[in-house]
Amino acid sequence: MARVAVVTGGTRGIGAAISKGLKDAGYLVAANFGGNEEAAAMFSEETGIKTYKWSVADYEGCENGIKQVEADLGPVDVLVNNAGITRDAMFHRMTVQQWNDVIDTNLHGVFNMTHPVYPGMRERKWGRIINISSINGQKGQAGQTNYSASKAGDLGFTKALAQEGARFGVTVNAICPGYIATEMVKAIDEKILNEKIIPQIPVGRLGEPEEIARAVVFLASEDAGFITGSTLSANGGQFFV
Ligand code: CAA
Repeated sequence: MARVAVVTGGTRGIGAAISKGLKDAGYLVAANFGGNEEAAAMFSEETGIKTYKWSVADYEGCENGIKQVEADLGPVDVLVNNAGITRDAMFHRMTVQQWNDVIDTNLHGVFNMTHPVYPGMRERKWGRIINISSINGQKGQAGQTNYSASKAGDLGFTKALAQEGARFGVTVNAICPGYIATEMVKAIDEKILNEKIIPQIPVGRLGEPEEIARAVVFLASEDAGFITGSTLSANGGQFFV
């Protein structure tokens, strides 16, 4: 029987490519989204993938959302924590709201989503949790103390839960995309993007969402069963750990 995969933020950007990649690889996919109904409807029409609306920042919303997915598709085998937001500002100008919004979605969201699905994976002795962190969680980025902290937190979470899940067949890995051609990156001031960011990428271009999706499909597969607690960097050579 086809395995069930949930992708948060799965209707746009990198998440949409991940949802499609998993569907093409034979998974039953549930694509979660937080707010953009129009994009979700278009995505669903185009791909035939079922979409589900809830905020990953809301624990109860996640619990209820997962219950609904399980009722519709079956127990969740693969969770891709992809939903993420930016609220960039230099630290001296960052508001409490900008800090909290980013931590709530990018870090608390990973807890809120993983907590309801992990016990079932543990009982069934099989699971894949794939956290989409960021190059900026590895290296830090001026203007992103909130985002860098949240994404670095996701890496710590990955390594800790990997140790807990290993005996139960649950692998937990992270992917750190670099700058990928999505709305989030295209929202950066064009001058900053062209003059400061792209020149720092040795391959000389932004990444494509599908280049992240293919890595997710691999980490979700049986073939990746010995890989856990790892961080896979996909950043065009911009940063090595
Ligand atoms: N390092 C150190 N100082 C920097 C800096 C840097 N990289 N960038 C800017 N500064 C300095 C500027 O020189 C300036 O100093 P002075 O006032 O002394 O001249 C000061 O910081 C203010 O800079 P700005 O004029 O740019 O300030 P702003 O308030 O207009 O904009 C910002 C601040 C919104 C953070 C803007 O700099 C910006 O958008 N930076 C890009 C941040 C970034 O890379 N975000 C990634 C988004 S994509 C993503 O997050 C996906 C992913 O995972 C990779």
